[in-house]
Amino acid sequence: MFKNRNIVFIGFMGSGKTLVSKEISKIYQKDLFSTDDIIETKEAMSIQSIFESKGEKYFRTIETKVVADLSKKKDVIIDCGGGVILNPENVKNLRKNGILIYLKSTPDSVLKQIKKHDNKRPLLNVENPLAVIEKMMKDRAPKYEQADFSVEVANLTLEEITAKVRKVIDHE
Ligand code: S3P
Repeated sequence: MFKNRNIVFIGFMGSGKTLVSKEISKIYQKDLFSTDDIIETKEAMSIQSIFESKGEKYFRTIETKVVADLSKKKDVIIDCGGGVILNPENVKNLRKNGILIYLKSTPDSVLKQIKKHDNKRPLLNVENPLAVIEKMMKDRAPKYEQADFSVEVANLTLEEITAKVRKVIDHE
């Protein structure tokens, strides 16, 4: 168990970060913070509306501030929006007191997930989401791979993913 360190989930949209962090927060009885939820509360607007009315650049600026604040916490779970790793400053901050766990999915699995769940993913609200997912995943892969641990999650159930993540946490 990582003593007093934050457990930080990173990974592509629809890789299960939010559901898994909720499970892990319950199991280990640690507080959970989601960068996307904090941004929506701060801005009193949905992610979709922030992207539409203020643009991605504005969203990323708020996201970086939120990550900097959360990185000061100790012994909590942090559920990061999929694009948090785009800014190296965010990764540096999260690492200071946290262990980064990458939930690694595949384009097909992501597509299934984002179809099932709500839509707070303006970046994937496009004509051919699979092609966009493939391209974005490829471009972002080296950034996600900076994580301390990588857990393959494609087509697994929440229970299966949680069990894999627990193994990582318990063996450290
Ligand atoms: C984004 C991922 C989303 C949200 C925003 C941008 C991204 O979070 O922050 O739509 O750039 O990957 P989830 O990964 O929780 O869907």
